[in-house]
Amino acid sequence: DGGYLYQYQGCWCPSLSFQGLISFQRHFQAHDTDVILITPPKSGTTWLKALAFAIANRMHYPLSQSPLLTSNPHHLVPFLEFNIYHENPFPNLENIHSPRIFSTHTPYALLPSSIKDSKCKIVYLCRNPLDRLVSYWHFIGKLRPETVEAISLDQLVDMFCRGLTAYGPFWDHVLGYWKASQEMPNKVLFLQYEDMKVEIVSPLKTLADFMGCPFSLDEEKQGMVEEIASFCSFNNLKELEVNKTGKFHTGKQNNVFFRKGEVGDWANYLTPGMVERMEKLMEEKLEGSTSKRRGRGRAKNN
Ligand code: A3P
Repeated sequence: DGGYLYQYQGCWCPSLSFQGLISFQRHFQAHDTDVILITPPKSGTTWLKALAFAIANRMHYPLSQSPLLTSNPHHLVPFLEFNIYHENPFPNLENIHSPRIFSTHTPYALLPSSIKDSKCKIVYLCRNPLDRLVSYWHFIGKLRPETVEAISLDQLVDMFCRGLTAYGPFWDHVLGYWKASQEMPNKVLFLQYEDMKVEIVSPLKTLADFMGCPFSLDEEKQGMVEEIASFCSFNNLKELEVNKTGKFHTGKQNNVFFRKGEVGDWANYLTPGMVERMEKLMEEKLEGSTSKRRGRGRAKNN
């Protein structure tokens, strides 16, 4: 969202989170019970955070008293590189009750070894890159209106195709986690935004099982899964006062994280030439990998 991209260990890291990423990489000590939510930016991180938080904390508060009613999901599940390690290389994270839930955009290859070596869980969520690009364009437009005047969609597509996106190249990000999820299905759960938009109940149950907080039969009978799904839905979260008018501690408006929440909005913005270029590249980069569909996502208009 503005600033520079630094190339670091094969990843294009935004200058804003560079220092935080290095401290996170060097100092983070994972607990076996930790859950780390990982996404490429604009893939539905806010949604995943709300779902994971609601799942893990349902014993502590009923939804009618959930902290999600008064705090943005990014406040409750902070980014390791932006929020936690940004200003303090040695934050005290030991007193947080388990499961501790954190998030990051860091590529697999750059994760701290304690995440890889411990029994902690990784939940990865990806999204069709065309929708991500359009989402990102609006996001930077809201944060820094002058950037949108300075960067056209055409330029953004060009940068995407050269791998120049925050935490990119995108294909390395997806492939890293896809391979890890294939090799270590108990360690890495690979989710897709488009699948969750089609049907949320089964991914939600899978997520709860994976996090070690499965829904009991009683909870299922009482409709707890559906309740959490609709509580965390785009329309519900977007309309909460905290997300409409509240501010994030960095001064950002919380509403920048809620725009349309749809699949296939790219068709309203990208020209056929841009789409062809991006799709061809995705075919090429994800060739031979069963993550092809995953990386490309399923676009409604495609
Ligand atoms: P759009 O810009 O396409 O609407 P992130 O949370 O990773 O920054 O991603 C933001 C994208 O997720 C935005 O996409 C936003 O509208 C969408 N989003 C936010 N909350 C959502 C929810 N509860 N359900 C579905 N999509 C959501």
